Amino acid sequence: MYNLLKGKRGIIFGALDENSIAWKTAERVFEEGGTFVLTNSPAAMRLGSLQELASKTNSQIIAADVTLVSDLENLIEKAQLILGGKLDFVLHSIGMSVNVRKKNHYIDEDYDFTQKGWDVSALSFHKLMQTLYKKDAMNEWGSIVALSYIAAQRVFPDYNDMADNKAYLESVGRSFGYFFGKDKKVRVNTISQSPTPTRAGNGVKGFEEFISFSEKMAPLGNASAADCADYIITLFSDLTQKVTMQNLFHDGGFSNVGVSQAVLETFSKYNENSSNTR
Ligand SMILES: NC(=O)c1ccc[n+]([C@@H]2O[C@H](COP(=O)([O-])OP(=O)(O)OC[C@H]3O[C@@H](n4cnc5c(N)ncnc54)[C@H](O)[C@@H]3O)[C@@H](O)[C@H]2O)c1
Repeated sequence: MYNLLKGKRGIIFGALDENSIAWKTAERVFEEGGTFVLTNSPAAMRLGSLQELASKTNSQIIAADVTLVSDLENLIEKAQLILGGKLDFVLHSIGMSVNVRKKNHYIDEDYDFTQKGWDVSALSFHKLMQTLYKKDAMNEWGSIVALSYIAAQRVFPDYNDMADNKAYLESVGRSFGYFFGKDKKVRVNTISQSPTPTRAGNGVKGFEEFISFSEKMAPLGNASAADCADYIITLFSDLTQKVTMQNLFHDGGFSNVGVSQAVLETFSKYNENSSNTR
């Protein structure tokens, strides 16, 4: 490995199990010499296997519900004490929609659920950055990254209200990135990641079809959670200090393809079959 994060300290949100993007990222940050505190919601602590990751990476865990500013304040204060100074990197790798969980269609949302999902998936990014900013917890040239999906910008019908949450998240990344850059020399970016088989991903209706479709569309194929972790390392490293306020596509080229040969071929087979049966 390259020691890209030697001496850097951070907080990693959202590692639930070994499939999580945050889990793979924590493993890679550890390999690159970074130290960090792991965090997740108290409910996720009971469900997942975070302790295993903490032992593997010599890190401590502090529970925090990302919707509660008091939890974030406690986490950010304690993390700096544990790690011995201000932070160089923060990963927000969190998403949850109650409407998706309850299988409510986009045109039949329960707005209490919508609000809860927005708070967890989108507003939390603002709450996190506002807390980091007010506590002056980031070192200069630090890096904050959150995860997004292309449904923020183009319609993927079954992504449901998560599409709106991601649009909000990307906007918060730009807006807060301005102030964090100007006042503290800290960069803020979102990564628009390929569909990835994780607990959050598998919750989306038609996920199997999503993932096969984008695999056929993307010239380089889908980016895995491990690929995403590698990309996050570059954004946490000193090699990307002037990259900020961007939504960065990490999707094997999917976002710039109108249609691929592989997808077209599925239609020619369909046409042959349907003309044969006429
Ligand atoms: N999986 C995909 O296809 C895909 C594609 C693009 C972007 N993303 C995004 O990547 C990020 C990580 O998701 P993942 O795919 O690794 O799935 P995941 O299910 O492993 O991670 C989601 C995490 O959010 C945490 N979380 C939920 N509510 C919380 C709360 N109140 N407080 C703190 N944490 C909370 C969960 O405990 C979990 O660890 C999410 O933002 C997701 O939307 C995922």
